[in-house]
Amino acid sequence: MSLDQFKVYVTRVIPQPGLDILNANLKHVKLNTADNILSREELLENIKGLDGLLSLLTERIDGEAMDAAGPQLKVVANHAVGFDNIDLPAATERGIMVTNTPGVLTDATSDFAWALLFATARRIADADKFTRALKYDGWGPMMYMGGDITGRTLGIVGAGRIGVAMAAKSVGFKMRVLYSDEFRNEKLEQEVGARKVAFEELLNESDFVSVHVPLLKSTHHLFNDDSFRMMKKTAYLINTSRGPVVDEAALVRALQTGEIAGAGIDVYEDEPKIHPELIKLDNAVLAPHIASATIETRGKMATMAASNLVAALKGERPDNLLNPEVLDD
Ligand code: GLV
Repeated sequence: MSLDQFKVYVTRVIPQPGLDILNANLKHVKLNTADNILSREELLENIKGLDGLLSLLTERIDGEAMDAAGPQLKVVANHAVGFDNIDLPAATERGIMVTNTPGVLTDATSDFAWALLFATARRIADADKFTRALKYDGWGPMMYMGGDITGRTLGIVGAGRIGVAMAAKSVGFKMRVLYSDEFRNEKLEQEVGARKVAFEELLNESDFVSVHVPLLKSTHHLFNDDSFRMMKKTAYLINTSRGPVVDEAALVRALQTGEIAGAGIDVYEDEPKIHPELIKLDNAVLAPHIASATIETRGKMATMAASNLVAALKGERPDNLLNPEVLDD
């Protein structure tokens, strides 16, 4: 089948470099030009008859969606490194290739985790609101005191690409780095002097706990009432991974009761909803899932997702194939 015959759908406007790749290679590229998240009905309708789908993390691509597309669907190229929105076994069962965008957002995301860490410990968001409200009537020795960063202990939960980049950036702040992961990362130990510890020890000892695990059954609600109880009362939680890794109601309780000092949060348990009590808390800094949102990084993600999709339709092995088994038999 020639590439010209393939039908592709892009579920929302993505940066132009990605669209350029699709348009240069394919004749039938349909784009949801409305800048909004597709409803489930719209997704199931627009996916019909497709050969390739360029999806976002806001769409659930499960067996039902794949079946709505039809048996000709060859590839789902996710515009994200996380792919918990896609039922990978269902895709593999149907011989559909699934790809993601690893690597290109490692720095932007870890930079943002640092931005949240600073904003949270030094109360920048709250202080900004105060200043704009013209409440600043002169320097005060008790005003906006936060937590120290330099020389403190940073706990990295999940030593994958982003967790390791977060840890590496702590060197200038002379931090002690602990990490918890299934696997040992010798490079991290040698370069940053990080020490691998059990999750519980990390919670007990860290002044900042930064979460970098994928969302899996085993990481769902990894942070719950028990985990917050194990953290220091002066500690901060930073989450740029996936919302459901943290039990949001438990986080609210921990922030309300002073079980932890603060939290910098970019992802939510039931996005785009946010726990109504979390919004009221001054010791939380909240962002709308923007850790990878730099112009350059989002351009690279779009390029990568589009290149993966085109490669798959050309019958090549996409660079970021998550289920190589579909090509192996
Ligand atoms: C963003 O959350 C991503 O997974 O790329």
